[in-house]
Amino acid sequence: MIATTSTAADTARAQLEDQPYGWSLPQPFYVDPDYFALDVQHVFVPRWIFVAHTCEIAEIGDWIRVDVAGDSIIIVRGKDGGLRSFFNTCRHRGSLICLGESGHARRLVCPYHQWSYHLDGSFAGARYVADDFDPAEFGLSPVHCATVGGYVFVCLADEAPDFAAFADATAPFLAPHDLEHVKIAHTQVIVEQSNWKLVMENNRECYHCVGAHPELMHSIAEFDGPGSSASGHGVEEMLERKFAEWDDAGIIHEHTTEGGQEWRVVRIPFTNDSVAMTLDGSPACNKLLGDLDESLRELGSVRVLHLPNTWNHVQSDHVVSFSVLPISATETKLVTRWLVHQDAVEGIDYDIDHLTKVWEATNDQDRTLAENNQRGIASRGYRPGPYVPMIETGTADFTQWYRDTLLAGLRGDG
Ligand code: FES
Ligand SMILES: [Fe+2]
Repeated sequence: MIATTSTAADTARAQLEDQPYGWSLPQPFYVDPDYFALDVQHVFVPRWIFVAHTCEIAEIGDWIRVDVAGDSIIIVRGKDGGLRSFFNTCRHRGSLICLGESGHARRLVCPYHQWSYHLDGSFAGARYVADDFDPAEFGLSPVHCATVGGYVFVCLADEAPDFAAFADATAPFLAPHDLEHVKIAHTQVIVEQSNWKLVMENNRECYHCVGAHPELMHSIAEFDGPGSSASGHGVEEMLERKFAEWDDAGIIHEHTTEGGQEWRVVRIPFTNDSVAMTLDGSPACNKLLGDLDESLRELGSVRVLHLPNTWNHVQSDHVVSFSVLPISATETKLVTRWLVHQDAVEGIDYDIDHLTKVWEATNDQDRTLAENNQRGIASRGYRPGPYVPMIETGTADFTQWYRDTLLAGLRGDG
């Protein structure tokens, strides 16, 4: 647990109360470790955080470890087939239990003095414990865990907020892609030297895309995303045509959100008749996801946004998912995963370079943009600046959501 000073909380609160819509934040929100501690406490701990896919923990006894905002978490598949999550801290004297990134076990055994735990987190055994030791008192501390369509979220708070509205809205979008029967084709982990909000701010607009992302711009338009206005930029016709086709095929696409700015899901077509986010728009994988047939190859991407830490492109033949995990005020881990049908064969159905090229390049370009942004904001000369209406509305909305969320937490009503 990171201690926060009342000074930072008081100053942050006053700044947020004065924060106008449509402007970037004052400097300390991006650079100050005390402000970062406020983000952890009031933004990350109380929310659902995307950490993994169910296919990574498919078998009974499979576990993965994820570090979320300073806490190490284990997610494990139990004997009943269910997923559970625990703080990765031994009930003896607190050692980390799982040290690797992932593994398979009949029991979870602490490496320090070998206290062991069943897959449901209950105490399993230890040598020489006192006569009055009550095993029922020493199960692993649970963390909330929830899934939708193959996505695994955790919440570190004692009481988790509602997950059902997001899950109910998202499940029908993901259903045709059947993400329970996929595998990870490739994972990229990068640590960006920037505050997590700059990673998200950058993602929420495509104002920078034309200048920065030649690879990505084959399949998307700078004005096609929620938060931008497509009107007058030549993409409405394409959107209308594809939406009519999808309506006829019973493919859900309507922009859906009930969470304010906290989450939304929508399906958007690709540009240039692309069928996947590849360099030339050609398929990324021969094998389509789920039971989709070739008539449904042009499905664009389901774009799932769930704040504070994920955006996604769920396509007809693969998925690219993104998990943003803050490390410090100036460091953020971005985990990107590419998923394909579980029966797809590398070298026959897909080629890793072809599959990953666009987002490997885009992530690299975005990392440079976010790190340059961070360095400029750290300057004595930095002053908050205006997001541009029409094309940076998504970023303005993100910052407004952050403002409202942190402010509610600081006032004790969030
Ligand atoms: S700290 Fe885990 S067994 Fe001692
Ligand atoms: Fe970008």
